[in-house]
Amino acid sequence: MDALLTTDLPLPNRRVGKVRDVYDVELPDGGDGVLIVASDRVSVFDVVLANGIPGKGKLLTRLSRFWFEFLTDEFDHHLVSTNPRDIPGLSDADYVALEGRIMICRKTRVVPIECIVRGYLTGSGYKEYLAEGSVCGISLPGGMVNSDKIESPIFTPSTKAEEGHDENISFDEACEQVGVETMTAIRQTAMNVYLRGRDYALERGIIIADTKFEFGWTADNQLLLIDEVLTPDSSRFWPADEWQPGQEQNSFDKQYVRNYTEELVSQGRWDKTEPGPELPDEIIENTLARYEEAINRLAS
Ligand SMILES: Nc1ncnc2c1ncn2[C@@H]1O[C@H](COP(=O)(O)OP(=O)(O)OP(=O)(O)O)[C@@H](O)[C@H]1O
Ligand SMILES: [Mg+2]
Repeated sequence: MDALLTTDLPLPNRRVGKVRDVYDVELPDGGDGVLIVASDRVSVFDVVLANGIPGKGKLLTRLSRFWFEFLTDEFDHHLVSTNPRDIPGLSDADYVALEGRIMICRKTRVVPIECIVRGYLTGSGYKEYLAEGSVCGISLPGGMVNSDKIESPIFTPSTKAEEGHDENISFDEACEQVGVETMTAIRQTAMNVYLRGRDYALERGIIIADTKFEFGWTADNQLLLIDEVLTPDSSRFWPADEWQPGQEQNSFDKQYVRNYTEELVSQGRWDKTEPGPELPDEIIENTLARYEEAINRLAS
């Protein structure tokens, strides 16, 4: 199977994200919708790599779809359909190419805040904890080690930068940008979705260490959970039976690709800027195997 790297559908207002292509569509009920096509592109440190991971977009779509259905009794979200035939006017070839990798969603005004929930101490959060005893300004108990569980998960918003990297901000700064009511609602929902996903995943042998959510407002001012949910692109997934606080963890997620590219950086072969390097076949296969393992445990 070849990787699907770009799309060019005869639909209005194409926006090309790092990983997904978004178009405007009319929803089956006549409302404003967006078509989100998950390509097989991979981004690391906000740079899209030269080649993709064939089938990755389908795996991520399958998992997001699972979670939206799992959460639908309790949380308002944007997913309307995953059936390409609900988009009128495409060719048969397009319908086949889109099968399994699209979400037709309610269109929203995206709240420009990345809503990060951390249930374990890792990555940049761990580095900050070592230096300051806090993560994004939230102080944590003393004596914690790398990959420790954070007993009360924390909410650490960041900006959704149009250019460059997202920047961590305090809850108060986020409130200044989008309003205290919106932020209070989002924080509550993000935490509840994380806790529900975390508990379910743990029963299936996966620790969701941290994750990022997005929210948006509909035209009639309903706040919805949007974008992708609890995937290995937006979260850290660790095998629960191998979890050992005090060290880095094995992972089912993009960390494996990050580690490979970090090696290139330390060898002076890449400087984290465009153009991104090419992933060797072995890294592609191992990444796919990890994603498949996680998704089979969670969504089947
Ligand atoms: N229901 C929705 N309504 C409007 N926009 C949405 C909706 N769901 C997701 N999006 C947007 O679709 C885009 C998905 O593409 P992708 O995640 O690849 O972009 P990106 O390069 O990561 O950019 P961003 O930093 O904005 O996420 C994101 O910009 C996301 O905010
Ligand atoms: Mg994104």
